[in-house]
Amino acid sequence: MLPTRPISALSTLAVALISIPLTSALSGIVTDPTQVDKQTFDYVVVGGGLGGLVVANRLSENPDISVLVIEAGADNRDDPRIYDPSQYSVAFGTELDWNWPSSQGRSIKGGKTLGGSTSINGLAQTRGQRAQYDALATFLNNDDGGGYWNWQGMFTGMLKSEGFSAPNDQQKEAGASSNPAFHNDSGPLQVTYPDGIYHGPHQKYFRDVVSSNFSLVASQDADDGFANVVAFHPNTIAWKDSGHRSSSATAYFTPVSERSNLAILTSQLATKILFDTSASTPKATGVEFGTSNGDRYTVNAGREVIISAGAIQTPALLQLSGVGDSSLLNGLGIDVVADLKGVGKNLQEQTMDSVGWTPVDGFDPQGTGPSDMIAYPDLLSLSSSSQNDIASAITSNVGSYAQDAYRAGAVVSVDAAEKIFSIQQELMVNRSVGLVEAFFDTGFPNGGLGIDLWQLLPFSRGTVSIKSNDPFTYPTVDPRYFAADVDMQIQIAGLRMARKIFQTDPLKSIVTEENAPGFDTVPENNGDGGSDEDWRAWIQQGFSSVHHPIATCSMMSQDLGGVVGSDLRVYGTSNLRIVDASVLPMQLSAHLSATLYGLAENAADM
Ligand SMILES: Cc1cc2nc3c(=O)[nH]c(=O)nc-3n(C[C@H](O)[C@H](O)[C@H](O)COP(=O)(O)OP(=O)(O)OC[C@H]3O[C@@H](n4cnc5c(N)ncnc54)[C@H](O)[C@@H]3O)c2cc1C
Ligand SMILES: *[C@@H]1O[C@H](CO)[C@@H](O)[C@H](O)[C@H]1NC(C)=O
Ligand SMILES: *[C@@H]1O[C@H](CO)[C@@H](O)[C@H](O)[C@H]1NC(C)=O
Ligand SMILES: *[C@@H]1O[C@H](CO)[C@@H](O)[C@H](O)[C@H]1NC(C)=O
Repeated sequence: MLPTRPISALSTLAVALISIPLTSALSGIVTDPTQVDKQTFDYVVVGGGLGGLVVANRLSENPDISVLVIEAGADNRDDPRIYDPSQYSVAFGTELDWNWPSSQGRSIKGGKTLGGSTSINGLAQTRGQRAQYDALATFLNNDDGGGYWNWQGMFTGMLKSEGFSAPNDQQKEAGASSNPAFHNDSGPLQVTYPDGIYHGPHQKYFRDVVSSNFSLVASQDADDGFANVVAFHPNTIAWKDSGHRSSSATAYFTPVSERSNLAILTSQLATKILFDTSASTPKATGVEFGTSNGDRYTVNAGREVIISAGAIQTPALLQLSGVGDSSLLNGLGIDVVADLKGVGKNLQEQTMDSVGWTPVDGFDPQGTGPSDMIAYPDLLSLSSSSQNDIASAITSNVGSYAQDAYRAGAVVSVDAAEKIFSIQQELMVNRSVGLVEAFFDTGFPNGGLGIDLWQLLPFSRGTVSIKSNDPFTYPTVDPRYFAADVDMQIQIAGLRMARKIFQTDPLKSIVTEENAPGFDTVPENNGDGGSDEDWRAWIQQGFSSVHHPIATCSMMSQDLGGVVGSDLRVYGTSNLRIVDASVLPMQLSAHLSATLYGLAENAADM
């Protein structure tokens, strides 16, 4: 990311002279906030997670540029709950997890530690469908940001981040394969297959059943932009470092932690973006931060403030700072800096249920994982009977979903929602993108074999809104799960397919009975795979969030409810950008991180 306008050596010097003492003395991990108080850095980055650490690394490649990252969590790189992939989920609900309560009694998890959610996530590394990346520019009146916001631009960014190690012989024998044309072996993020990859027959059986009986292609490498396939996927595992987790912290900070122009302040919450409102366009000048004991400090940004606090905290921080829908801010007594209606709207989150089967006696998975076999069924491969139902449910209801989302305050206008939904509809009905993820899981649920299933592309839109002007009070997070009924219909179709996959040989030959939901809860009525009503009741009661919130500060034109433009600058302000999941305007048929690394690399390249 280049500065707003070229700053001459002379004016840089002037800045340095005015702001005493010299900031370049601060580097590495800093835990004492008084060392940062009233200092000036060229860039102040809020949030040391995925987006923040990519940008901080790339900006500080220039030794003349000083960068400060403020991270709410601590540096826990030495904690096995973080670095050991086999401890996935142990961090949930601890001090390492924001664990935001959301509506319908659910919660959304997110890493509150250096590396953000990449320090606690599931390590699945997947890319979406080419058409989904090409759609990014269509939310911006076809402004692709100079080539960044389409498949080619995002592929370039994703490659830049990737340090891939192709499967070795034992991993190939277990089924893994890759095509070098779609990988880079020298980027920072370590990507490979598990040493403990399963050698049991089950992952291959899943692949064979899905490809033979559910008309999805078994891909040799699903990272090629054709994601509506079944394939072995790699993981963010550090092959250069004992098979530990590769996070944004270990990939983008550890190797450059000696840089004298890069500092990370930990365990401090950014509480407000500071603006110079005397300018015709409010200009971000710095950040206020502190802890819940009431201490407050400030730091100045000579060039820009970059917000990378993730899709829940980024809109909350903007609202606290006076950037958001004036009707929300007025009610909380917050002075409006920019009346930007889209902040906190357009929230999209997915919903997960797991179908579980008990393996036959003596079944041995022959490995420790993590699991790395995923299918992304598209409209055609989701059972032929529900195909037309789903297509017509989408096309005939888009108008009413748009009105419903508007009534709920989740979109800026009915027109905007209709335009957004028409792009989404075309991808789902005409472009063969995966509609659900079927993640084939070993050891889950109930210690057996399972399929974790989620609807990928919800039409339900929700909101993130602060409920107080206290920055330590969590915002209200309402994804409006299943507000659009087609989301439920697709979830049901996916789960029915998941059950059927286990009822098909050869997978059928290694399982005995369904233990979740089980045929008592969702009976087979003459082989119908379970009624809609039974599935619906079970889903409503037991679904969880997928922890993939996005789009609350979307990169879209302002009339669609966008918050940033193709240059990631916040509309109606200057010197302020956002680089995190909140700018992604629509879900992809993929896990999010590979795409977000590409997005952040592109942001840093601007
Ligand atoms: C449980 C879980 C499992 C997942 N599994 C996968 C997976 O298998 N594969 C995959 O690709 N993706 C997965 N994801 C998603 C992926 O990790 C996230 O989408 C991605 O990390 C989001 O990047 P980000 O930069 O938006 O936010 P984050 O990486 O979450 O970073 C935001 C950072 O900002 C900090 N912060 C927030 N507010 C403030 C503030 N006010 N002041 C200072 N700091 C602040 C946070 O503490 C955090 O460190 C998973 C996510 C979770 C939570
Ligand atoms: C691989 O990554 C390195 C480091 O980010 C980058 O310089 C290089 O251009 C990348 N190669 C490709 C083919 O993208
Ligand atoms: C699955 O596909 C295989 C290969 O085409 C076929 O032999 C088998 O009968 C199919 N199974 C079912 C249950 O349709
Ligand atoms: C999308 O597919 C539907 C159903 O097959 C068809 O009626 C429609 O014309 C297609 N739309 C586009 C833009 O191709």
